[in-house]
Amino acid sequence: MSDVSLMVNGKRVSGNVEDRTLLVHFLRENLGLTGTHVGCDTSQCGACVVQVDGRAVKSCTMLVAQASGSTIVTIEGLANGAELHPVQAAFKEHHGLQCGFCTPGMIMTATDMIARHPEGLDEATVRAELDGNICRCTGYHNIVKAILAASQAMAKGAKGRAKQAA
Ligand code: FES
Ligand code: FES
Repeated sequence: MSDVSLMVNGKRVSGNVEDRTLLVHFLRENLGLTGTHVGCDTSQCGACVVQVDGRAVKSCTMLVAQASGSTIVTIEGLANGAELHPVQAAFKEHHGLQCGFCTPGMIMTATDMIARHPEGLDEATVRAELDGNICRCTGYHNIVKAILAASQAMAKGAKGRAKQAA
C-alpha cells in the first residue's frame, strides 16, 4: 500500500491505495470524478486524458503513486464556476461532440496543445497532435474546428490582457 497526496482541481486530496492503483481509477473511484473516462485501458483512446503538472497525460498509463505530489486538473476543474473554459465553449459552439464519450479527453488534450502553441495552431498540427485521441462519432472535423477556434479566442484574450496591463 502507498500513501498518496495530490492537488486535484485545486483541492488537496490524500489516500492510502494499493500500489497498482492507476491514476484514472483513483480519480473515478476514490474521488468520484467520473468525467475522466476509461475507453480502452491500453493507452490507445485518450478518453482518460487529464493534466498532470500542466501536461496532458493518459491517466490509465500512470500509477497514482507516481502522480503523488503533482497537481492534477480533470475536466471537472476546467470551468470557472458557471463559465465554460474557452475550449469547452468552442466544442459547444462548433458541435465538436456527439455522444461525448471522448470529449473530456479531447478537451484536456486540446488545452495542453493550445498552451504549448501560444503562437497559434494550424489544422495539420491539430490533426497530428490528436493522434492519441480516438473519436468514434464525429469524423474529427468539428473537433479540429473547435480547437482552432479556441486557440484563436485564447490568443486574442491573452493579447487583450497584455494591452490592459501595458
Ligand atoms: S483509457 Fe486511457 S488511453 Fe484509453
Ligand atoms: S463524440 Fe462519441 S466518441 Fe467522440
